Amino acid sequence: MTGSDWDDAAFETRAIHLGQEPDPITGAVVPPINLASTFAQDAVGAPRAFEYSRSGNPTRAALETALAGLEGAAHGFAFASGLAATDAILRQLDPGAHVVLPDDAYGGTYRLVNAVHRRAGLTFTSADLTDIDALRTACTDRTRIVWLETPSNPRLRVIDIAAVSAVAHERGAWCAVDNTFATPYLQRPIELGADVVVHSTTKYLGGHSDVVGGFAALAPGLDGLADGIAFVQNATGAVPGPFDCYPVLRGLKTLAVRMDRHSENATRIAAFLRDHAAVAEVFYPDGELAAKQMRAAGGMVSFTLADGEDAAVRVVGATRVFTLAESLGAVESLIEHPARMTHASVVGSPLAVDPALVRLSVGLESVADLVDDLRRALDTLRR
Ligand SMILES: Cc1ncc(COP(=O)(O)O)c(C=O)c1O
Repeated sequence: MTGSDWDDAAFETRAIHLGQEPDPITGAVVPPINLASTFAQDAVGAPRAFEYSRSGNPTRAALETALAGLEGAAHGFAFASGLAATDAILRQLDPGAHVVLPDDAYGGTYRLVNAVHRRAGLTFTSADLTDIDALRTACTDRTRIVWLETPSNPRLRVIDIAAVSAVAHERGAWCAVDNTFATPYLQRPIELGADVVVHSTTKYLGGHSDVVGGFAALAPGLDGLADGIAFVQNATGAVPGPFDCYPVLRGLKTLAVRMDRHSENATRIAAFLRDHAAVAEVFYPDGELAAKQMRAAGGMVSFTLADGEDAAVRVVGATRVFTLAESLGAVESLIEHPARMTHASVVGSPLAVDPALVRLSVGLESVADLVDDLRRALDTLRR
């Protein structure tokens, strides 16, 4: 079976087979890591399927087919990082164009808009996109993209993708969704009306903390935008090498089972934290809207400490199973202090993070061990 033959199959089946069919010559059941940088041509100006690996490479093409298919997208583009994918989308805008950003988002996305694209003439407004009236107020006649992250980083806020997409379309703008925290197994923004989906494949899609990558997927009907992104992908060259495409392809095959277990473990941890006296507030996307647009709540949990920043810094330094590190979405559990780590670039901006906040990426270890580890770390605050 190839390509669209998998359309009727369930997510788990497509995640294993789509774009990853046995090699037609050797029968290899996993796509080879094709290291060729250039490909023989039959005549001048008559390349075969591939020409030069910045423009296209078989291992990258397998990833682009597989992940675009899982998102229900018509086009998929793999990049060297999540930020490179975001950059390629923002480069589609003319100077003077306006973007609406959420007031809770990955700090690097804000930095890219504020410190790089603003210098090239982009304007932006950040707004609370859980409030549709605030979104309407933030839009201008020049708004071309409404950008959102749901669940958001680091507060795990849930934004109504269908409602935001509808407002974006009323204004003639695209709705772009960073789907890194949910993955296409838990949430498919294009089915809810979004135009563009962005991933840091570094996270759950790779799933093992051993690759940095990004992805942009486009809804059907956006062929002009697809041409623009393909042009930037080739013209600026922020492409992943075949060695980096491979672990993401492999990660897709186990994505469904990993996300189920991440969600189960995180649900237990959110419940434990909600009952703990040292914890002021727990953020976990398990409300009504999340249930409407997500299959499960995912593996990210954030919480604030009643005793503020010093307590947060002590706790992130006191765990043993949770490793103190940036990034997220892999088999091992990670803990971090967003205000001084992943979100240090938004200090003083509208996206600044409460310094009492701790973010967990709940991994696939025994949940009993994870709860014990957090209990021990929180107990150190009493001493
Ligand atoms: C939600 C989200 N989007 C985008 C990015 C950027 O991805 P990358 O680090 O692969 O450039 C990150 C990185 O942490 C992220 O958490």
